[in-house]
Amino acid sequence: MTNPIYLDYAATTPIAPEVVDSMLPYLSNTALFGNPSSLHSFGEKSGDAVEYARKTIAEYLHCKAKELIFTSGATESNNLAIKGIASAYRNQGKHIITSAIEHKAVLDTCKYLETQGFEVTYLRPNNKGLIVLDDILNAITGETILVSIMQVNNETGVIQPIGEIAQALKDKPLFFHVDAAQSAGKIAIDLSTTPIDLMSISAHKFYGPKGIGGLYISKRKKPHLQPIVHGGGQEHGLRPGTLPTHQIVGMATAFQLAQKNLSKDFEHCRQLKRSLLDILLQVEGVTLNGGQEHALPNIINLSFDQVGSDSLIIALRDSLAISSGSACNSGAIEASHVLRAMGIEGDRLYGAIRISLGRYTTEAEIKKAGHAIAEEIRRLRELALT
Ligand SMILES: Cc1ncc(COP(=O)(O)O)c(C=O)c1O
Repeated sequence: MTNPIYLDYAATTPIAPEVVDSMLPYLSNTALFGNPSSLHSFGEKSGDAVEYARKTIAEYLHCKAKELIFTSGATESNNLAIKGIASAYRNQGKHIITSAIEHKAVLDTCKYLETQGFEVTYLRPNNKGLIVLDDILNAITGETILVSIMQVNNETGVIQPIGEIAQALKDKPLFFHVDAAQSAGKIAIDLSTTPIDLMSISAHKFYGPKGIGGLYISKRKKPHLQPIVHGGGQEHGLRPGTLPTHQIVGMATAFQLAQKNLSKDFEHCRQLKRSLLDILLQVEGVTLNGGQEHALPNIINLSFDQVGSDSLIIALRDSLAISSGSACNSGAIEASHVLRAMGIEGDRLYGAIRISLGRYTTEAEIKKAGHAIAEEIRRLRELALT
């Protein structure tokens, strides 16, 4: 049996062959397996590879290498940033601002902090899925210590005005955290001109390995974070634990590839999106969710009247791998909190599917997928009538 066509790149991407090649020596070479913290030559070789990788990633992000620490991914980085600020600055204030369309790694962290006496404002986006700067500014009180807004939404692909928000918050006595899990490696990020204080990244969203990510901690406002894990003192004591050299090297290669392919990947996705929409917008009762003016082309969120997303995804599961929204919600099909927050209801809410594509998706695959979806919609609607 052949594999279904993979259209769930926002959940995770296949690892690039170049990334695998760069990681292999750190898994198989008998001189390169050392603990990067060790003082002997084995440790030194691994340590050098880790620091070279840190420098490479910092170059892509336009920040200093010492402003980056390695974590297991964006979930951990988001937890460390938000809980780390909350516990370090709780005497300054107990108010956090975020948005209702964040990933659960931010939302559930904030929910947890509410049980610890913090107050959280969850801003709703407009009907295009955009967070409005004035809403953030109006929500700030003397107690606000942190604003956390994602750069690209994982369900709609909508890009938030992070640069504008960062400029507006830069002189305020609070910190600005950005969840860049869906944007790092897909759009250029210049931290030397964008005054973000903390930023979470994850390698497996852009052709790197799973289980590795990072947190950027700016030297500008120097946020002091309380660690959430305690141990051997690695990563300035903020994220102790033996560093996984092969994963870190893989993430750096993924960033190098991203740098090289940024506009090519973007244009490729834009063309594929156009081909898919040429087919699917012909179907009656279809809606494209999320504003299209400021969106990454690799994520396409569509609703079909009278068709539940679960029936569609299950009916197509042998030929297409697509999702109903946030696949990170442990596979459960439930109405999307993102679309709900955008004011979407009824069929449009329960019928939404997310198609996400990337570097290795082909025009032939996208056309095949488009026709299969259109055909299945017709079949499911006919079935519902009989
Ligand atoms: C916006 C966003 N934040 C955080 C995460 C979690 O990332 P990780 O899998 O690296 O923990 C995801 C994964 O889907 C995401 O899309």
